[in-house]
Amino acid sequence: MNALEVRDLGRSFGGLQALQNVTLSIAQGERRVIIGTNGAGKTTLFNLLNGQIRPTRGEIVLFGEPITALSTPQRAARGLARTFQITSLFAELSVRENIQIAVQALDPCRFSFVRTIESYRHIEQRVEELLAQWQLEHCAAQRVNKLSYGVQRQLEVVMALASRPRVLLLDEPMAGLSSEETHLVTDIILALDRAVTVVMIEHDLAAAFRVADRVSAMDQGQVVAEGPPALIRDDEALQRIYLRGGALGTAGPAVSAGGRSQ
Ligand SMILES: Nc1ncnc2c1ncn2[C@@H]1O[C@H](COP(=O)(O)OP(=O)(O)O)[C@@H](O)[C@H]1O
Ligand SMILES: [Mg+2]
Repeated sequence: MNALEVRDLGRSFGGLQALQNVTLSIAQGERRVIIGTNGAGKTTLFNLLNGQIRPTRGEIVLFGEPITALSTPQRAARGLARTFQITSLFAELSVRENIQIAVQALDPCRFSFVRTIESYRHIEQRVEELLAQWQLEHCAAQRVNKLSYGVQRQLEVVMALASRPRVLLLDEPMAGLSSEETHLVTDIILALDRAVTVVMIEHDLAAAFRVADRVSAMDQGQVVAEGPPALIRDDEALQRIYLRGGALGTAGPAVSAGGRSQ
């Protein structure tokens, strides 16, 4: 059984066909990276996957169960977690407080006035566990807006992991990062347990190819190529698309950006 199946998914906004005929099969434990020029439909695909918007047509199946009609919280309860292209951290709060919020959001007692001591203890335990596991203890008390962008992105991934997701959707986790920070975040993704399936949108091709088992390339709302990184790298049609978009070329700066640190 696959972790995620997308069948003939489509979405239009007024007259604009933002996504069409998208079909994907993502195996359990797979690292799938979605690449594509700006406006290709990548974020729209994620919005459809996690239920923020509804498809015009098609179906989404999570671990064999159709989820197309389910709400975002219902999908989250089935193990789907997501980070956003734009930072979703509470800048004025500390690292620990941000993680606390992520853990608390999942607590079944969150809407009850009488929270038991037991439920507090569970939250605290999970927060400390996450801080330790991802080596964030040293900055736990620091305010988020004092952290480097690299650590902020790392924190976003850790917050998404609070729910112990089975499928993690990451939207451009390396956006705006230096090459050193890109390495930090790539390492975190590489270190994730294979019990978690990862679907990641990534603009930095070097980082994408380092993380991916398979790559799906999108253009103008469609998947135009799919395969292991080595094949996608040499795909001529894809190189043309990227050159046309002017965003990336296989020899361009975006490829070398994450390629090594100074
Ligand atoms: N809510 C929306 N309303 C209207 N058009 C949208 C909306 N969301 C995305 N689009 C359009 O859909 C296309 C795909 O956008 P998007 O999925 O954000 O691309 P990507 O993430 O690959 O850069 C773009 O032309 C964008 O302008
Ligand atoms: Mg996007």
